[in-house]
Amino acid sequence: MKKLWGGRFTKTAEEWVDEFGASIPFDQELVEEDIEGSLAHVTMLGECGILPAEDVEKIKDGLLRLLEKAKRGELEFSVAYEDIHLNIEKMLIDDIGSVGGKLHTGRSRNDQVATDMHLYLRKRVKEILSLIRGLQRALVSQAEKHVETIMPGYTHLQRAQPISFAHHLLAYVWMLERDYERFSESLKRINRSPLGAGALAGTTFPINRHRTAELLGFEGIYENSLDAVSDRDFIIEFLSNSSMLMMHLSRLAEELILWSSQEFQFVELDDAFATGSSIMPQKKNPDMAELIRGKTGRVYGHLMALLTVMKGLPLAYNKDMQEDKEGMFDTVKTVIGSLKIFTGMIETMNVRVDAMEKATKQDFSNATELADYLAAKGMPFREAHEVVGKLVLHCIEQGVFLADLPLEVYKEASPLFEKDIYDALNPRTAVNRRNSAGGTGFAEVRATLAKVKERLGTL
Ligand code: ARG
Repeated sequence: MKKLWGGRFTKTAEEWVDEFGASIPFDQELVEEDIEGSLAHVTMLGECGILPAEDVEKIKDGLLRLLEKAKRGELEFSVAYEDIHLNIEKMLIDDIGSVGGKLHTGRSRNDQVATDMHLYLRKRVKEILSLIRGLQRALVSQAEKHVETIMPGYTHLQRAQPISFAHHLLAYVWMLERDYERFSESLKRINRSPLGAGALAGTTFPINRHRTAELLGFEGIYENSLDAVSDRDFIIEFLSNSSMLMMHLSRLAEELILWSSQEFQFVELDDAFATGSSIMPQKKNPDMAELIRGKTGRVYGHLMALLTVMKGLPLAYNKDMQEDKEGMFDTVKTVIGSLKIFTGMIETMNVRVDAMEKATKQDFSNATELADYLAAKGMPFREAHEVVGKLVLHCIEQGVFLADLPLEVYKEASPLFEKDIYDALNPRTAVNRRNSAGGTGFAEVRATLAKVKERLGTL
């Protein structure tokens, strides 16, 4: 089959070679963006007097017909035409005749493909932003129900100090807030037009790049034509922001997996997000959380792949850059899917308030309270730490907890101890007293919740 660029060729490649080089199997995902970019380009060509109005009308009509068909999924693409750009151009020429061949005046596939991806990512990043908000809202509404639900807080996965469950959930809301900021700041760079940069050097036609940028809703243009066609930073940045987001989701996924185990029993995931075992009838597996934890790996992989593709590439466009697409598409799909699943999982999870609270009473996570108690009465904290450490050791030897020790034992350890230590040892008191800024005290958590809700503009 004759290529659209076949002029200087005397023979055509074999089909299997074409297949290897083609991007149409995956870049057809860009079909709508490709046609939108072409519509803006041809409109500008008409306005600038580069193409006569009647040609512009024919081309636009043809493109609009193709757009309708694309939306209905009726276009049939061919590997013989390599990529989405040439496929659409070929279909246009088949439909309206040789005038369709005027569309490509003053542009190249190099600025065209870059334009398509800017348009594509802009749309998807906006969708991701609203899904992040959705997940934050789900976490906030669980947090609102659980300000006074207490649980062990961990460091090194060892029980450390008791905390409010809402406080734990809100930590993720803030992590997601940084993701939100990163994605929304990246829009500034995504929203620049490379269109009209040509193959690499601009064009001799009197085009108006600002006009096409305006028609496509871009905030401005790339100022350097070489940079415009060879920049993939905006995709790498997207993959990097996505990696960070997935890392956050993966951490929460890991906690849900732990918490829903027999060992913790802090939460129960809804049946809709769990699966059974084909052999063990008692099992309920947190599959969706595990899968999201697992999918984080492929997103990191896509980031590393594109960084490696771009490393050492001379300016400007190189075919290597066609490798930017599959990882980007897969990341978009993975991130969007993970956020949707996660939101449902959080909204429907059942929190086992009693099990959480019970866990705070069967450990030494109130030991800091005792040390703080002595320090507040003037003993240097380092000494207080030592005194309490010995009491903990004593408890371990006796097989009891701190709250079980009689006052005499405390008095013996330090005359500063009075009977109000038993209140200080109560985990609920311990949580509630931590009202330093950003702490887990109930009043502080309520204040943070109000701040978060104002920021999210909801509830
Ligand atoms: N299919 C190509 C890609 O995805 C489009 C740009 C091709 N440009 C070129 N000069 N071969 O990168």
